[in-house]
Parts: sequence; structure tokens; C-alpha cells
Amino acid sequence: MPWPFTKKIALRSLPLTCDIHTHILPDVDDGFRTAEDSLELLEQFARNGVSQVIFTPHVDQGMFPENTRSFLQERFSAFKKTLPPHLNIDLHLAAEYMFDEFLGNANEPLLCMGDSSVLIEMSYYFISPYIKEVIFAFVNAGYKPILAHPERYVYLARDLEVFDHFIEMGCRLQLNLLSLSGAYGPESLIILKHLLRNDMYRFTGTDVHSLRQYRLIREIEVDSAQATKIEALMHNNKMLFRE
Ligand SMILES: [Fe+2]
Repeated sequence: MPWPFTKKIALRSLPLTCDIHTHILPDVDDGFRTAEDSLELLEQFARNGVSQVIFTPHVDQGMFPENTRSFLQERFSAFKKTLPPHLNIDLHLAAEYMFDEFLGNANEPLLCMGDSSVLIEMSYYFISPYIKEVIFAFVNAGYKPILAHPERYVYLARDLEVFDHFIEMGCRLQLNLLSLSGAYGPESLIILKHLLRNDMYRFTGTDVHSLRQYRLIREIEVDSAQATKIEALMHNNKMLFRE
């Protein structure tokens, strides 16, 4: 039970100026469906002080086989042309790559965040048997891997030292803001609190898939110790572009 007089801080009051993980590019994955909703979100972002956004559509040959680099680049350029000139927001295209048997064999350059960072995700059901090999191959190829939402791989709640190995191998960890609500269950919160308490996260993001999710994220409240750490992660997001 939280101490009743502990001061709570709403996430909407923290300075998220750069969102590095979003599914705003319409109709390419399980994120935003229409360009109208995508524009509405970007308008809300701009009003709330978000000035830099990285679109990270899923690249997952099993789920979204059309999402090649060139296809996503075309869709991104077409979408940008539909935006009103008053929208003062800096948009970038990267991707969220699923760790699967195809990833190690990618024959085109990966869509990076900033200079050479690559956002990757794992299955929600089991740890990839070759994840360490892929991280190793990525780092050797000059990429800087960022593991999306480690707190959502709930099967790792009893295997927390795995995250130490990932970090030692050069993988940075990205917190999903929505996870702070407890929406992904008690095991997710065990992982989240461990990683946040021990300063093991490097970045944060909304991973926003819909207007509803953004509304929920803005309603989340955290204690002041967590708020301080999350604020530092928001600051690190901006540094991604200066690496
Ligand atoms: Fe995502």
C-alpha cells in the first residue's frame, strides 16, 4: 500500500519532448488505422510539448510481411505530405524489429534511430534462443541495439540477471510509459521496478498505438522518486540524436 501522503506526480507533467517509440504511421501495423487519428495525435503531441517523434512501425515478417524498408519509407513520405504546415513537429522514421530467424539475415540496411541505434523487440511468450547472438552480431556490425519494453517480457520476472547480460553486451533498455500503470500485470511491475530502481533503463517512449492509449498514459501517476528517474530517461531520448 502506498503511504497515503506520498506525493503523486502525473506523467503529463513530465517533460516528454522526444518520443522514440510510436506506431503513428497509419495503416501499416497494429497501430493507428487512419491518417486523421494520426494527425490528431500529432496535434495533441505538439500542444503538450512533444517536438520530436520517431515512427517505429513493426518490422516482423510473420505479422506484417509488407513492411520492408522501402515500403515504409514510401508510406512515411506520403504521410508527411498530408500534414498541415502549422504542425511544428520533427518526424523521423525508424522501425521496431522483431527478433526472429529473419532478422540476422536482413539484406538491406536497418531503419535506425539517430545515427545507428536500432529498436528491437522479443516475443511476449518466450525468450528467443538466439537473442544474445543477434545482439552480438548487431554490435559487431556497428549498430547500437535498444530493447523495447523489457518489462513486458513477463517470463523474465524470475530471471532478472538476463538484463545485466543484455546491458553488458551493449544493449540499451527502453521503458514503455504505459507499463507504469500496471496494465501488463504484477510480473511486469516486478521487472519494471527492478530496472528503474537500479537505473538500468536508458530511454523511454509511449509505444502509442491509439489515441486512447495516449489518454491513458497521460493519466498515470507515479511517486516522486520514479518521476525523477523517468525525467532523466526523457532527457536521454533527446541525446539519441546527438550520438
Ligand atoms: Fe512498439
